Amino acid sequence: MKHLQITPIIFFVLCTSIIIRAQQAYYGSDVDCSIKGTTTPPSPYYLYTCNGYHLSCQTFLLFNAQPNFTSVSSISNLMSLNPSKLAQINKVGEYHKFPSGMEVIIPVNCSCSGQYYQANTSYVTGDDDTYYSVATHVYQGLSSCSSLASENSHDPNELYGGLELLVPLRCACPTENQTKDGINYLLTYPIYENDSVYDLSQRFKVSEQTTASANGLTEADPVVFQGTTILIPLRTPPSSNQTIIHYPIQYPPPGSTPGPGPPLVVAHNSKGRHPLWIGIGVAFLFIICAAVPIALYLLRKRAVGNEKKKRKRCVLPKDVLEYQAGAGHALKVFEFEELEAATDNFSSERRLGVSVYKGVLRGNIMAIKETFKDSSKEVNILHKLNHFNLISLLGVSSGLENCYLVYEYMENGSLKDWLYNNSGRLGNWCLKQRIQIALDVAEGLDYLHNFAEPPYVHSDIKSSNILLNGNLRAKIANFSLARASEWKEGGCAITKNVEGTVGYIAPEYLESGMVTPKLDVFAFGVVMLEVITGKDAVIQLEGKEKLLSTVIMCMLEGVDDGDKLSDFIGPAMRDDSQIDLVIPIVKLSVACLNQDPGSRPSMEEVVSILSIIQSDLQSRVML
Ligand SMILES: *[C@@H]1O[C@H](CO)[C@@H](O)[C@H](O)[C@H]1NC(C)=O
Ligand SMILES: *[C@@H]1O[C@H](CO)[C@@H](O)[C@H](O)[C@H]1NC(C)=O
Ligand SMILES: *[C@@H]1O[C@H](CO)[C@@H](O)[C@H](O)[C@H]1NC(C)=O
Ligand SMILES: *[C@@H]1O[C@H](CO)[C@@H](O)[C@H](O)[C@H]1NC(C)=O
Ligand SMILES: *[C@@H]1O[C@H](CO)[C@@H](O)[C@H](O)[C@H]1NC(C)=O
Ligand SMILES: *[C@@H]1O[C@H](CO)[C@@H](O)[C@H](O)[C@H]1NC(C)=O
Repeated sequence: MKHLQITPIIFFVLCTSIIIRAQQAYYGSDVDCSIKGTTTPPSPYYLYTCNGYHLSCQTFLLFNAQPNFTSVSSISNLMSLNPSKLAQINKVGEYHKFPSGMEVIIPVNCSCSGQYYQANTSYVTGDDDTYYSVATHVYQGLSSCSSLASENSHDPNELYGGLELLVPLRCACPTENQTKDGINYLLTYPIYENDSVYDLSQRFKVSEQTTASANGLTEADPVVFQGTTILIPLRTPPSSNQTIIHYPIQYPPPGSTPGPGPPLVVAHNSKGRHPLWIGIGVAFLFIICAAVPIALYLLRKRAVGNEKKKRKRCVLPKDVLEYQAGAGHALKVFEFEELEAATDNFSSERRLGVSVYKGVLRGNIMAIKETFKDSSKEVNILHKLNHFNLISLLGVSSGLENCYLVYEYMENGSLKDWLYNNSGRLGNWCLKQRIQIALDVAEGLDYLHNFAEPPYVHSDIKSSNILLNGNLRAKIANFSLARASEWKEGGCAITKNVEGTVGYIAPEYLESGMVTPKLDVFAFGVVMLEVITGKDAVIQLEGKEKLLSTVIMCMLEGVDDGDKLSDFIGPAMRDDSQIDLVIPIVKLSVACLNQDPGSRPSMEEVVSILSIIQSDLQSRVML
């Protein structure tokens, strides 16, 4: 145990020298609460030091969804946040459930309280909680054991269930120098297994040097440890498209790490020679101490796993299953074990998207989507629809906890990926294919609005929900937000829970929640612009974020509309002589984007105009 007590002292000496120079000091290994007696504040083991330009700021933490904290409501409760705020910044609905291991952005108000920055929340203890387990497991290192112990008067050895703890969360505001460099936020990031400063800097688009210096890290490739946090300096608030899903960490259940908990890893240190030995000592102790609880935990987990298998939670619509049994419908019901085998136990190599996997089922390649929300609606809708331009639902399955929907496999992935990641292929402008894709989507929507019985509004048309098959023919996917259209002239369905994606949402929907087919027409207008210009629905222009639709509409308002537009999309075009065919398509998109839903064309009209443009192009090619 001697080594363990030396570590903090060496650390303290090293860190205090760093504090003087750096923005904040990285505190290396996760230390137990006994450090309380050996350091005098300010110490990075507590929280981040109050040394910023401002005494308070709005900032962000990242939290990884984990069992019991996957829903918007449970995470906002854990962080004392308004659920609608959390939903908004993560671009999800208020009833959304994040997959375990998914990063969730937590906005907080961070302020100086004495020597440390903190954002307060509260937590009611469970029977087996310790300050250590609350800081490290529940809050993933976003709080610290030492600061929990100092903010709460309960004896660390006598915590029991039902106590309300004040939980100070680690946060910090930029220093004067950082502010001058354009850094506006310091994102508190809880280190995950295998994270490196280099990878994180890449992902958040900051230089490794800037990240390292924000954390007082001086080495070229500093080691960072799970259970600790680092600050990532950002110019703009973090965006939900920067978050990723990690392989979920299985924390041992509380109680199997008695007392203040073991120091997890070797100390990070830039100068000392001792840490190697300390490291070996710690690692050795750790192995001894951890082996027994881990073995017990694994045994227990297996027992729990077996129990779980017996109570399935996924519910599939009964009538669909009965219908299936009766009428020889194509929808198949797969055994969960079949899906496991088809996807190598849902291995990451088989992953196509956040929770979509590729698998070979009964001899055919299929796409298997794991869903966390009630999917009976989507199943009910899709099994009734049958159109070449709508994705086919081939089967369903209920797993241990989630439902699985099995779709036809689309070789070329989403239109979004195709447009932005494969720019070598379609990127080099092939007008014929682009028009075909737009027409495919238009025909799918026309069917949905005008021929399906009852008619439906998709409500979430965007380039990532349009999939391309091997021949680059497009199909509309993801019907989780679709609803029956009650719409008649003069009437409409109203929805309270506005869901959708920034850049594609029609103005009347944001204002009043009006659901009409014109909602899809608007979103289709945006997709058509993306297809034609090869640009994202939200773009950076002159350093600002702008909607693609707004930019194009401004260009068309000018007198020299053709010139400006061809400058804008020109670089992607293979053949300048086709620009005169592009203009009517852009104008059609702009008509779809009319602020007044009544003035937008119907999908039927869109289809007929696009067909004319398509045959125009074909006759030109023939000449
Ligand atoms: C989730 O919460 C339930 C009840 O509050 C508790 O029994 C269970 O241990 C928790 N699970 C985890 C993984 O924390
Ligand atoms: C931060 O404080 C402001 C002003 O008091 C408040 O409007 C806002 O909701 C707070 N934000 C969070 C994330 O708590
Ligand atoms: C957080 O809690 C501490 C300790 O109770 C208190 O001093 C501080 O004012 C609180 N901060 C905020 C922003 O409420
Ligand atoms: C801020 O930058 C200036 C000039 O580069 C430097 O002299 C000063 O030490 C820096 N301050 C801090 C606190 O790092
Ligand atoms: C971390 O890296 C090790 C070795 O490369 C690997 O075995 C392990 O699966 C990785 N863990 C995660 C969560 O990716
Ligand atoms: C992420 O979204 C922001 C706007 O929220 C946008 O500026 C940025 O380009 C997007 N990045 C990617 C990789 O899509």
